[in-house]
This record gives sequence, C-alpha cells and structure tokens, in this order.
Amino acid sequence: VSLRPYNTFGLDVQARYFARFASAEALRQLLERPEVQAGPLLILGGGSNLLLTQNFGGVVLKNEIKGLEIIGEDADTHTALLRAGAGESWHGLVEYALGEDLHGVENLSLIPGTVGAAPLQNIGAYGAELQDTFERLEALEISTGQLRVFGKEDCGFGYRESVFKGPLKNQFVVTAVVLRLHRAAAQRPTNVRYGDIQTTLADLGIETEPTPQDVSRAVVHIRRSKLPDPAEIGNAGSFFKNPEVSQHKFDELKSRYPALPGYPVPGGVKVPAGWLIEQAGFKGLRRGAGAGTHGVHDRQALVLVNHGGATGQELRALAEEIIRSVRDLFGIELHPEVNIL
Ligand code: EPU
Repeated sequence: VSLRPYNTFGLDVQARYFARFASAEALRQLLERPEVQAGPLLILGGGSNLLLTQNFGGVVLKNEIKGLEIIGEDADTHTALLRAGAGESWHGLVEYALGEDLHGVENLSLIPGTVGAAPLQNIGAYGAELQDTFERLEALEISTGQLRVFGKEDCGFGYRESVFKGPLKNQFVVTAVVLRLHRAAAQRPTNVRYGDIQTTLADLGIETEPTPQDVSRAVVHIRRSKLPDPAEIGNAGSFFKNPEVSQHKFDELKSRYPALPGYPVPGGVKVPAGWLIEQAGFKGLRRGAGAGTHGVHDRQALVLVNHGGATGQELRALAEEIIRSVRDLFGIELHPEVNIL
C-alpha cells in the first residue's frame, strides 16, 4: 500500500499492511491480529508531522475515530468541556468550537493534522499551546488493550513535547481528547500577545476588542501568507524546533550578529531556527533535477518542502546539511521537530 495520500510531505513509500479504525473497539480487534502482533506498528493521524525515509515492513493503522460533543458546562468558571474523537481534524475542532461560541483554541487555527496527534507534541502557535485548554485524554494501551485516562499532569507537556514522545512512546493510541474551553468571550479577552496577530488585525481593519473569530481570521491569514499549503506543496510545517541557548551564549552571538532575534525563556533564550537557517543561506533553496524537487520554503526557512518527486532520504540529507551548517556558523544544535521514520 502506498502511504503517499497519508503523509503531508507526499512521499511515496510502501507499507506492508494498512488498515483504518473508527472506534477503540475496532482498534482493539486489529491489535489482536497476527500481522499486527508481528510488528512493527505505526499509528497514523493526519501524517502532518512525519518524514518517511523508507518502506515500512509492518502495519500502518490510521486513526479515524470521529465525534465532536460538548459533554459538560460549568457556570461558575464559564467553561465547557468539549470531547473530540482522535481522528477528527484539528482545524475542524477549532471551527466547531467557534461555532458553539467556545473559545481558547482560536490561536491554533489551521494547524494541519488530527485531534489525537495534538497532545503528542503539545501543538502550539501564535502565543498558545494545546496544554492551555487541555483537560484530559483517553488512550488505549497497545500491550493490554485497556483504555486509560491521562490528566494534564500525566501528560508531561513541554515545548513540542509530552510523555507520549518520551517514556511512553509507541505504547498508547490516543482515542479521544477533552478540552476545557471558555464561554462568554466578553469576560475574557482574546490572546493577542503575539506581535504578528496585532499587526494582522490592524491590516484587516479590526481595531477594538477582537473576538475569537477575529483572532482565528488573523491566524489563518498569517499562516496562509507564510506557510505552504500541504495540498499544494508537500511539507510538515516546522521541520526543526526553535533551540534554546544560555543567556551567555546569546550575548556572545548577539555581539557577532546584532540582528539575532531571541525570546527569554526560563533558563535562557529561545532563538528562531528560521532566522539561523535563513542566515546560513538555505531560504528558498531548491535541490534536485530540473527546477528542483525539494528544498526550503521561500517565505519561512523553518519549513522543508517537497516540490514533487523528492524522496525522504533527500529531505533527510538536506536536514542534516542544515544542522551541520547552523552548527558550524553559530555553534547551535538544531533538533528535528518532525518524526523521522
Ligand atoms: N525568521 C526568519 N526567517 C525565516 C523564518 C523566521 O528570520 O525564514 C525569524 C523572524 O525573526 C521571525 C521569527 O523567526 O520573527 C519567528 O518566525 P515565525 O513567527 O514564523 O515563527 P517560528 O518561530 O519560525 C514557530 C512555530 C510554528 C508556529 C509559529 C507561530 C516552532 C518549531 N514553530 O515558528 O509552528 O506556527 O512559531 O507561533 O516552534 C509547526 O510547529 O509546525 C509550526 C508551524
């Protein structure tokens, strides 16, 4: 089975077996099949954070558990609980929430991928992260077939991190996510701390008290202007994490590169990898035959792109070259944000 339709890089690798599941029970039954027990196993959501570098000799199971439902209201805190099946599209959840007048995920508009993948890397953008509204998730333990509930503390969320990428990697399949969202927008101002949101709102002519719908429109606008649409150009969003350096290291770099941007974080300074990669000369680069099969996006250097016909190995080789180059120039180690398989 070709995995090409199931990964946003559009890479044409083969999987030995492929199946879909639409419920936890269906997943449990699949896990009992001998082909699946023989492994290896890959659980797929939207395939939007994945670089496939070779054929997969095991079983790919695609999570298609659906459902969007408000399961509770809390009048005291003006919040409601939204429960979503892991196979729902993330942006579909954002639109559903806005339609129900529930707020808190509008800054995360238009992020590709599924609801179930969101907690794995604590998706984040434009001043918000999944963990800000996360209440709990339900996940099926692969070894026992049992459902378990994970509260926020159990998930070990960090910057693009969770226990499901660390100690519990490949042990659980997320089946549902519950978010605590806010009612009554008027009592709770939207989060417009991120500078780009403010300038975009002004460009869109929105000057007073932006609503969550306004913020969503602004975020969609920014994303469309900077990030390639995977339906048109293969990509997996940011390929690397933004690295953190010590204040001392930052000061030293800043004296050499006065334009170096940086944001204070506990214990140091976070530096935009996109800036480092652009300085290293990779922005807009095209590699491969003809006009180029792959390269670095021309409007956001943090995004590697497949213009069509690239292989996962070529993209990985480019990523390694970028890591070396940034290391040589700045003495900073970049780490991939996408899962490389
Ligand atoms: N920059 C450059 N050149 C570039 C790109 C960025 O100089 O080609 C510099 C600029 O100084 C810019 C700064 O980097 O002001 C920040 O750029 P941007 O706002 O585009 O954000 P980012 O740090 O590159 C992160 C996330 C994105 C998220 C945006 C907005 C990571 C790894 N990436 O990118 O997430 O959408 O912030 O919050 O943290 C993703 O994870 O797939 C993703 C797209």
